[in-house]
Amino acid sequence: MSRRGFIGVDIGGSVMAAGVVTPEGEVVAQGQDPTHKRGPGTAVATLLDLVQRMHLAARAFGVTVEGIGIGVPGTVDAERGVIGRDVHYVPDLAGAPLVATIAAQIGLPVYVDNDVNVLALGEWTFGAGQGARFLVVLAIGTGVGGGIIQDVTTFAASIYMRGIPWTYLPTTLLSMVDSCIGGKSSINAAGYKNLVGNFFPPSNVLVDVSFIATLDAEMIVGGLYEAAKICYASGYPGFLAYLAEQPSCPMTPEQAQRVILQSLRTKKWFIEVDEFDQKERLLLNFGHTFGHAMEAGTDFGISHGIGVGLGMLVANEYAKRQGNLTSDGLARVEHLGSHVRALLGAGASCVQASLPAIDLGLVMDKFDHDKKHRPGFYRIIVPGGDGSLELISVPKSDKVRRDFISAFEAALGQIPWPFSASERAALAS
Ligand SMILES: NC(=O)c1ccc[n+]([C@@H]2O[C@H](COP(=O)([O-])OP(=O)(O)OC[C@H]3O[C@@H](n4cnc5c(N)ncnc54)[C@H](O)[C@@H]3O)[C@@H](O)[C@H]2O)c1
Repeated sequence: MSRRGFIGVDIGGSVMAAGVVTPEGEVVAQGQDPTHKRGPGTAVATLLDLVQRMHLAARAFGVTVEGIGIGVPGTVDAERGVIGRDVHYVPDLAGAPLVATIAAQIGLPVYVDNDVNVLALGEWTFGAGQGARFLVVLAIGTGVGGGIIQDVTTFAASIYMRGIPWTYLPTTLLSMVDSCIGGKSSINAAGYKNLVGNFFPPSNVLVDVSFIATLDAEMIVGGLYEAAKICYASGYPGFLAYLAEQPSCPMTPEQAQRVILQSLRTKKWFIEVDEFDQKERLLLNFGHTFGHAMEAGTDFGISHGIGVGLGMLVANEYAKRQGNLTSDGLARVEHLGSHVRALLGAGASCVQASLPAIDLGLVMDKFDHDKKHRPGFYRIIVPGGDGSLELISVPKSDKVRRDFISAFEAALGQIPWPFSASERAALAS
C-alpha cells in the first residue's frame, strides 16, 4: 500500500536541500543541488529539477506525494515570490509567482513559508516535535543523489550514534555503475581530492534507471568511463563484455540497465576479494590519480567521471612511452583509448563543451600530492605488457616527473577539444 508523504525544500543562498518525508517523520529520501546550478538566475529551474528528482525518489520508495513545502530565505510573499531586503540572496525568485509557478509545473499543492529553515519547515509540515528528527534524518538517513551525496551520507551515517543503517538511491549513472556498491566515503579536504574517508556501506541500494533521463551528456559519458574502467580492470575480456552491452550516449533505459548490471557484477568481484583496498581493488584506481589531478588542478572544472576517462588516456600514454607493451597490449590499450575518445565526441559536439583551460603546472602539483603515492615513490595503476593493469611504484626524479608531464600532454593533445589551443591558452591567462 502506498504511503503518504510531502516534499520539503529548503532554499539556501548556495545550496538547496530537499527531502521526502512522511507524516510519521520518516525521511525516505533526500538530495541537494547548488542553488544556481546553471548560472545566475536559475534557482527556480534548479528547484523544479530537484523537486522532480524527489518525486521520482518518492515513487521508488512507494510514497505518494501530497504536497510540497518550500522554505525560502528572506521575506517571501506567496503570490509575488521573494520581496524585501533578502532579494539579493536568490535574485531570480524576486517577483516570481513562486506558488503558482511550482504548482502549475508539478500539479500538487505548494506551500511557501516565510523565513524558515529546514527545521521549522519540518515542524510546520508535520507538527512540533518532528522537526528535529526531520533535520537529522534528512542529513543522514537516506542518500538520494550522485557520488558526492553518497560520500557525505556514508561518512555522516558512519559517525552518527557510531553508525546507523542507511539507504542509498543513486541518481547519476556514475553512482549507479560504480560507487553505489563498495561502501567507500571520500571527502575532499585542503584542496585535494578524497583526503578524508572510511568504509560504511548502505544497508540497501535501490537503482532506478529513470533518473538517467534527467542527466546531461557529460554526466552520462562520465558514468560510462567508470563502467569501462571497472570492466577493463577485470581483464580485456571484461572490457569486451562491457562493449557488447552497447554503451553509448544517449542510451535507452534497457541499454543502461544492461551496462549497469555488467559493471556492478564486475565490481562485486573486486569488493569480495579485497573489500578494504589492499590489492586487487586498488586496480579500480585506474585513471584516478591522473584524473583527480586534472579535477583538482582545474578547481573541479572537470567532473570526476570525465577526469577518470582522461586519466585513463594519460595512464595509457605513460605505459606506451615506457615501451613495455606487447603488440597485443598496445592494441588493447588503443581499443580502450578509442572508446574513451569516441564517447567524448569532437569539437562542437564534445560533451565537455565548457572545458576549462588546463594548467599542467597546477595539475602536476595536485598529482604530486595524491594520497596514493608514498614518500620517494609515485604509485600509479598502468597497463603492463599484455595491457592488463598493474600497480607500479616509480622512484621520484625530475626525469620521471617529465615523463608524466609528456604523458599528460600526449593524452590531452589527442582530444578534439571544443576550443583551439590558442583559445585555451587565452582562457588560462
Ligand atoms: N565513494 C565512492 O566509491 C566513489 C566512487 C566514484 C566517485 N565518487 C565521487 O563521486 C563524485 C562524482 O559523483 P557523480 O558523478 O555521481 O556526481 P555528483 O554527485 O558530483 O553530482 C553532480 C551533479 O549532478 C546533480 N545530479 C545528481 N543526480 C542528478 C540527476 N538525476 N539529474 C540531474 N542532476 C543530477 C547533483 O545535484 C550535482 O549537482 C566525485 O566527487 C567522486 O569523487 C565516489
